[in-house]
Amino acid sequence: MDQNKIIAQIANFVKNVLKDVESGHDWWHINRVWKTAKTIANEEKVDNFVVELAALLHDIADPKFHNGDEEIGPAKATEIMSSFSVSPSVIDHVAQIIRYMSFKASLGKVNFNSPELEVVQDADRLDAIGAIGIARAFSYGGFKGREFYNPEVPPNLKMSKEEYKNTSAPTINHFYEKLLLLKDKMNTNSGKRMAQERHEFMEQYLDQFYAEWEGRK
Ligand code: ADP
Ligand code: NI
Repeated sequence: MDQNKIIAQIANFVKNVLKDVESGHDWWHINRVWKTAKTIANEEKVDNFVVELAALLHDIADPKFHNGDEEIGPAKATEIMSSFSVSPSVIDHVAQIIRYMSFKASLGKVNFNSPELEVVQDADRLDAIGAIGIARAFSYGGFKGREFYNPEVPPNLKMSKEEYKNTSAPTINHFYEKLLLLKDKMNTNSGKRMAQERHEFMEQYLDQFYAEWEGRK
């Protein structure tokens, strides 16, 4: 089967699998990451087929809903790619990307990298910042019943993995604990450029937020 056809069919498959998933990692997240990854890939020397497959399959199974099993994603992705007759070497590469890509993995020891991983990781991180990132953060906070802001609860910049998972802090704190740190973690030049713009937009948003909070504007 030709590569474009495989991509179209896998996209359709993923859309169906994720149609009932909570909003942070739903089909629309995948769709945005897929588009952003293609934009970044245009400026990089990468295998676009690998980039697109990894973007489409990177959140196919969330360890959070499988007792923290970090192998569930790569395994599911492998199964899907095999059923669409993707070659074993591509399957392997995509599974490695999914295994090592997440923000949590980057807090631990990372021992796999490739230009294709860098592109998809940038696209995934970009979706956590800017206008979309703000929407996702407040949507997540609402889902968890968090306050959106509380000036008496300062951000905690030294959280362990465990604390990060279990925090119940207001959503604004998440900007300082994660979102504003992402621009310095970007891999590619175009990723860095896009992150810079989205970062500035978040800073502007926070300025306006505090001004309104204090009744200054
Ligand atoms: P990923 O590993 O894909 O970045 P997460 O599951 O950590 O995803 O988060 C999914 C979305 O929810 C992201 O946009 C993230 O910023 C947001 N999110 C995660 N934790 C929090 C939090 N404590 N407060 C607000 N938003 C959060
Ligand atoms: Ni993602």
